[in-house]
Amino acid sequence: MDSISRAATVMASMSSAIAHGGRLIEARRAFPDAPAPFIDLSTGINPNPYPVGPLAPESFNRLPEPETLDTLQQVAAAAYRASDPAMVVAAPGTQILISLLPHLLGLKHATILGPTYAEHEAAWRGATANVAVTTSLDAFVETARAAGGVAILCNPNNPDGRICDRQTLLNLASDMAHQDGFLICDEAFADLEAPDPGLARHLPHPGLMILRSFGKSYGLAGLRLGFLLASPAQAHPVRQALGNWAVSGPALATGIAALRDTEWRYATCRNLQDSCQRLDAMLERTGFACAGGTRLFRLFRSRDAQPLFRLLCEAGILARRFSHDPDLLRFGIPACEAQWSRLQEALLSGYSQNKTDNENVIEAAQAVWPPLAIL
Ligand SMILES: Cc1ncc(COP(=O)(O)O)c(C=O)c1O
Repeated sequence: MDSISRAATVMASMSSAIAHGGRLIEARRAFPDAPAPFIDLSTGINPNPYPVGPLAPESFNRLPEPETLDTLQQVAAAAYRASDPAMVVAAPGTQILISLLPHLLGLKHATILGPTYAEHEAAWRGATANVAVTTSLDAFVETARAAGGVAILCNPNNPDGRICDRQTLLNLASDMAHQDGFLICDEAFADLEAPDPGLARHLPHPGLMILRSFGKSYGLAGLRLGFLLASPAQAHPVRQALGNWAVSGPALATGIAALRDTEWRYATCRNLQDSCQRLDAMLERTGFACAGGTRLFRLFRSRDAQPLFRLLCEAGILARRFSHDPDLLRFGIPACEAQWSRLQEALLSGYSQNKTDNENVIEAAQAVWPPLAIL
């Protein structure tokens, strides 16, 4: 294969067709009569974003200076408790790192603790790796040790918020390193958890790579900012692959201010904790059982999940459902009292209409909008 065809193959394998939450245009198309505005509870993005102040015009009209990138990486190292900024690689979101790593590492086996964020599996399959998805931590550890290559998990997990034992993960990272492999720990939802399950303080470690997303906790997903944390030897090729100016001037300026602002982060943790309790209570009153979550989303189980998903869409509220388990619905946190009231109203009307197990309603719900690929 010549180099142009090889590049085209890599690019094709990196472009994802996985359906995710947050697709309000598609929801509006499917439910044109729903009240406006559509409320998006289908993602795990903080609904009350970090207040981005006015940015200096230079952050838009000049190429970012390397020193500004250095500052961001220093601030990120402190925020995530990594001891050395040389272990931090800033990127335009973690998704690009998820897509790049299989091609950069070139390992041929990936073991994933699932069900989880589907892009990991897609990226490794796209790079022609053998992928095994396991559902228990024990099977994950055992399979990864036997196969070598990479072991991948989200910690906390999306969508159920599962947090795995720190020592088990560190032991696994050491075992992977002995076979020239890695544990990739996606900590996209770790920022606001207490205690912080993050593993960055254990870097440098020859078998550990960590992903930290900025957009979710800070409510700035569209800014596109995320980080790889890894020992300098592993960070270097990723930095090289991203090249110059991968992170925009506005993302650098906002990331520096936000990651320094520990007061905002603590206040956000407290507020979201209260909101999670409120959401759990609201859903549980209408017959759902909480099946886990983080401070940025809650997962619920109900036999009426499918008809309620549809009913919520008709009420202009988009939740997240999963093809791997039709009884699950995931909800992000409502942004304001108006959204809480609309959710409450829709749930109460749904509860009274759908509390019986009605196959016809379930079929109709699936016909209108077939189940999406997971996560
Ligand atoms: C577990 C997980 N990791 C990574 C990402 C990618 O996030 P971003 O590219 O915005 O950092 C997502 C997005 O939903 C996610 O759920």
